[in-house]
Amino acid sequence: MMLRKRVLVTGGAGFLGSHLCERLLAQGNDVICLDNFFTGTKDNVLHLLENRHFELMRHDVTFPLYVEVDEIYNLACPASPIHYQHDPVQTTKTSVHGAINMLGLAKRVKAKVFQASTSEVYGDPHVHPQTEDYRGNVNPIGPRACYDEGKRCAETLFFDYYRQHSLRIRVARIFNTYGPRMLPNDGRVVSNFIVQALKGESITIFGDGAQTRSFCYVDDLVEGFLRLMATGDDVTGPINLGNPGEFTIKQLAELVIAETGAKSKLIYKPLPQDDPLQRQPNITLAREKLGGWEPKVPLKEGLKRTIAYFDELLKKIGNGRRD
Ligand SMILES: NC(=O)c1ccc[n+]([C@@H]2O[C@H](COP(=O)([O-])OP(=O)(O)OC[C@H]3O[C@@H](n4cnc5c(N)ncnc54)[C@H](O)[C@@H]3O)[C@@H](O)[C@H]2O)c1
Repeated sequence: MMLRKRVLVTGGAGFLGSHLCERLLAQGNDVICLDNFFTGTKDNVLHLLENRHFELMRHDVTFPLYVEVDEIYNLACPASPIHYQHDPVQTTKTSVHGAINMLGLAKRVKAKVFQASTSEVYGDPHVHPQTEDYRGNVNPIGPRACYDEGKRCAETLFFDYYRQHSLRIRVARIFNTYGPRMLPNDGRVVSNFIVQALKGESITIFGDGAQTRSFCYVDDLVEGFLRLMATGDDVTGPINLGNPGEFTIKQLAELVIAETGAKSKLIYKPLPQDDPLQRQPNITLAREKLGGWEPKVPLKEGLKRTIAYFDELLKKIGNGRRD
């Protein structure tokens, strides 16, 4: 008989969280989706509201929470610079107080707890590709610090709760992930390029476009989350999850143009401060610890699915223009 777990997903109405909720429900779990709707929306989980094993809760993780659960996925935190720099103090609070509250809850109810950390803990890396033992190169006083240092401190808290209270923790360092339900206007490169192309506008490249990124399709990432949570308690992480396939920003722009059939031109603007020049995960540890996990969806295929989502969304909000 399959045991139905009670699973809390903070930030569950966001991009990654909504896909995670879907998968957890499909596995037969009871899911509590918690969100303050800062960057997430009810629309992302509207299709799940009919499911009696799904519960949507408006709550801010910077305040304590009392619920009975078996597992907690802590995803609550704005993830794109536009949003996390909007109120940087609140961003640090969300990461740090949010971690304290979720760890406190996990301790009380003896739940396993997962932290959505980020490749940004590596800052502008001197090691390439980044392995988990690389300690990073983060500017603690720059405009990205509220996010990067907030996430670093959250990792610290997870490991202190692990050492001090024997908590069952899982820390994933997530690299650039894309897919349906990203926000159309949050400045993330994949959604930006797709929306610009679908509107027939020029595609804006920051820098000369030679900086590289790796792009993981959301389904592959969520599979990694589930495997990490299900694996033995000795696997605490931190563990890199992402797609090691490396593309320049210019290549991404060209692929988006090809897949949308747009006639967009490329325009170049200066690089923002502290923007990393290279970013690629080393996923050797994930492959080894998570039963051979690795991303399966090629960039071209993932882009197709993401473009289809944005095409529909732009038509719905009356913003789309295809020529
Ligand atoms: N998408 C990526 O490429 C990526 C990369 C690295 C790390 N991450 C991490 O994964 C998590 C999810 O990211 P995402 O891409 O889905 O972003 P997202 O902005 O779509 O999701 C974050 C969710 O958290 C909610 N939230 C924010 N502050 C909150 C608070 N104080 N209380 C409750 N809810 C709050 C937002 O409303 C939103 O629904 C984040 O923690 C992010 O840092 C994402």
